[in-house]
Amino acid sequence: MTAASRRARPRRAPRGRGAGAALRARRASPAAANGARAGNGRMDASGLMREAVAARAASFSPYSRFPVGAALLGASGRVYHGCNVENASFGLTCCAERTAVFAAVSAGERAFTAIAVTARAGAGAPPCGACRQVLAEFAPELWVYWRDTRGRILRKRLSALLPEQFQFRRGGKAR
Ligand code: THU
Repeated sequence: MTAASRRARPRRAPRGRGAGAALRARRASPAAANGARAGNGRMDASGLMREAVAARAASFSPYSRFPVGAALLGASGRVYHGCNVENASFGLTCCAERTAVFAAVSAGERAFTAIAVTARAGAGAPPCGACRQVLAEFAPELWVYWRDTRGRILRKRLSALLPEQFQFRRGGKAR
């Protein structure tokens, strides 16, 4: 076994400490479960960021050791959590933002107003290009919140982060 593969070995994350931490974080989180409504029906950037921090606790990231959490606010007021889920075949990894979108769409929600994304303290984590495209499918004017290296919340519209999203057209017409 090489040093690199030893480093990359999963640390019992699905059943071990990682999963327990995720459950504890969910209990501590204001919108305790995926798809739960925000307590007072409103969710500001700080509140949504707290949800993203809770979502990050479930991250399965034994290869990069870079846990990411996302909290997606639906037009209904429901909050959907996502974390990055890595794979031994690295390219199959799914980012936290896309995990949140897929959870929300699977629950029947397709309109969104904001997303908060967070990595470990000190690491800025705006959504990657692939996730911007996936988010734009449902909410091109979404508010995107992330933190700079000093922990301050930054915000931009998705349309500013991805000005020319790909759209599927046939014969010049959007379908
Ligand atoms: N990652 C995300 O979850 N979201 C992003 O927008 C960029 C990157 C994850 C994927 C991988 O598990 C780890 O961060 C390192 O790239």
